[in-house]
Amino acid sequence: MKAIIACLPGDGIGPEVIEATQTVLQAVANAYGHTFEMENYPIGGAAIDQYQTPLPPFTLEACQAADAVLLGAVGGPKWDSPDAPMRPEQGLLAIRKGLEVFANLRPVKPHPRLLHASPLKMEKIAEVDLIFVRELTSGIYFGQPKRRWVEAGEERAVDTMAYTESEVRRVAKLAFELARQRKRKVTSIDKANVLETSRLWRKVVNEVAKDYPQVTLEHLLVDAAAMYLLQRPASFDVLVTENMFGDILTDEASMLTGSMGNMASASLGDTQNRHGRPRGLYEPIHGSAPDIAGKGIANPVGTILSAALLLRYSLGLEREAEAVERAVEETLNLGILSPDLGGSANTAAMTRKIIEQLDAAAIPT
Ligand code: NAD
Ligand code: IPM
Ligand code: MN
Repeated sequence: MKAIIACLPGDGIGPEVIEATQTVLQAVANAYGHTFEMENYPIGGAAIDQYQTPLPPFTLEACQAADAVLLGAVGGPKWDSPDAPMRPEQGLLAIRKGLEVFANLRPVKPHPRLLHASPLKMEKIAEVDLIFVRELTSGIYFGQPKRRWVEAGEERAVDTMAYTESEVRRVAKLAFELARQRKRKVTSIDKANVLETSRLWRKVVNEVAKDYPQVTLEHLLVDAAAMYLLQRPASFDVLVTENMFGDILTDEASMLTGSMGNMASASLGDTQNRHGRPRGLYEPIHGSAPDIAGKGIANPVGTILSAALLLRYSLGLEREAEAVERAVEETLNLGILSPDLGGSANTAAMTRKIIEQLDAAAIPT
């Protein structure tokens, strides 16, 4: 197959994990007889520095013309001033909105070799296999008004959490569809005891649930959900929630896997690529990690597993996706671990081992 994968390295460790992942994708292409066209485009702080905007129009156009998009991370201290006229993160929000990827899938499945790397007790996390469906293109991240101004002698600021029925319905539907193919349980997380948007959320989720009688639905308030994630993580299957709650809870849930560096994501919507599949945006859930950027020690697993999701969802290459996932597993089994996982392997060494495992397992076509 020929596929165009637009790559957005971004800032900090973004370029490091993207370069590593591109070598893995190239190894997949070689082993299975595919051609992946992987061109880099600027986003985030790098784009602000060079083009005075966090998302240059040509980057968005290239992503819209591609079969799938792979993104590293954006942001960093250089662009962090609260008074800066523009921020790298605006580029990320704009690309998500521009690609209309309203559902952000974040799977959490601790690897047996990494149970010790989690601060939680092994017996709590051994059976965990859950997936978050985070609403990604609405809520408080995008609601208007959103601004800062001076009034009556002091600065004020406002953000708006807003949802429409159809925005909730489409993401809820996707969550129930996923659950139907998994353990048939959906946990919907909201703050319906306080927020109007959450009461709408809960009502729509209940309506969608009627079409899925075989799926069990549980509602949790977000504060309690944060607790249950640590107390009974293995009880969850699909968790669906609004944008900001999903952002926070998935960083919390990353510690079930031992490190944020392990966590992959796929963002999907209704738009299709040339292969009749969803044109997704694939990114690790971590950020630009300024504290370790430039040292070559970033854990590339989250980005490499995001590429596996890309192969599966946007290109329909299930065998290749599984091969990448197995190669990562084997590498972890061999104890080739980056510092965040308690080892001493650098990004290049981990990536090399993953490619070695991939080559060893590849069936020539
Ligand atoms: P972060 O995810 O960058 O880092 C949090 C901690 O996790 C750090 O100690 C970091 O070293 C570690 N870590 C993260 N990824 C790792 C990896 N692959 N390997 C090893 N360790 C890893 O979060 P932060 O420090 O809160 O944010 C830094 C910047 O990143 C901010 O500007 C923020 O806006 C941005 N950010 C971007 C994205 C994104 O582009 N998707 C996501 C989150 C944060
Ligand atoms: C993430 C990040 C982003 C988000 C930021 C950088 C805008 O934290 O991808 O989880 O909040 O969505
Ligand atoms: Mn986040």
